[in-house]
Amino acid sequence: MSALMDQLGETVRYIQSHWAIKPEVGIVLGSGLGNLVAELKIEKEIPYQDLPHFPVSTVEGHSGKLIFGQLGNKQVIAMSGRFHYYEGYSASEVAYPIRVMKLLGVQTLLLSNAAGGMNAAFSVGDLMIIRDQISLFTVNPLLGRNEAELGPRFPDMSEPYNKTVIKKAVDIADKLGITVHQGVYAGVTGPTFETRAEYKLLHLAGADAVGMSTVQEVIVARHMDMQVFAISVITDLGIREEENIITHQEVLEAAAAAEPKLTAIFRELVQAI
Ligand code: HPA
Repeated sequence: MSALMDQLGETVRYIQSHWAIKPEVGIVLGSGLGNLVAELKIEKEIPYQDLPHFPVSTVEGHSGKLIFGQLGNKQVIAMSGRFHYYEGYSASEVAYPIRVMKLLGVQTLLLSNAAGGMNAAFSVGDLMIIRDQISLFTVNPLLGRNEAELGPRFPDMSEPYNKTVIKKAVDIADKLGITVHQGVYAGVTGPTFETRAEYKLLHLAGADAVGMSTVQEVIVARHMDMQVFAISVITDLGIREEENIITHQEVLEAAAAAEPKLTAIFRELVQAI
């Protein structure tokens, strides 16, 4: 067996020795978007640093954890804290927890992120269901030896985000009276926000929003044939008037303000899957 499969096996066995239930849904929430976790009936929490072979946090005091429990009628596993490529993790480290989720039994992956909007119809605080993605400048997490046990050498990416789940989410948003856009998410490495010219380029390339996460996790999830759904919260507008800069603070505030809408949709979607 390969080193990666050995390591994944050890991580999975460690988790199963502490929590013996098979989760159905995996949840990864973006910065400032973590409140859904407060709605879980938590059964077990494991800090990342206790998990064999889990990436180790590069930021002091920012060690995350895996949370296991129930959300309504579903057993779920949620990441509190995700790994970003800009923090210095490799692409396969960023994706490692998603592989662990799949090997634990997770079939459906729900993700959220904060993103900069480029579509002129978007305002700060809007939600965008991700319909497709462009991973232009990020490193593909499947580079290197293919693990045939996980998936094929050349995975199809024609439907990264599951259309049936998108339809369910649109119906839920309608019912709740929440406006949602649908669009294309461009994944970039960051950590700089984009220049004005870069936002324009990405928009011309077909992207409606841009962010620094998600695409690598989704590639790995689709490699393993997981069903994927994701929502971006539009926290800033990339194509905007001069003299208007983007700050991390503004992104966090906009994310927090829009968070209840996102949580409401995810809460019901988990039940409907
Ligand atoms: N660009 C990239 N990542 C982001 C942005 C942005 O404008 N907003 C939130 N995350």
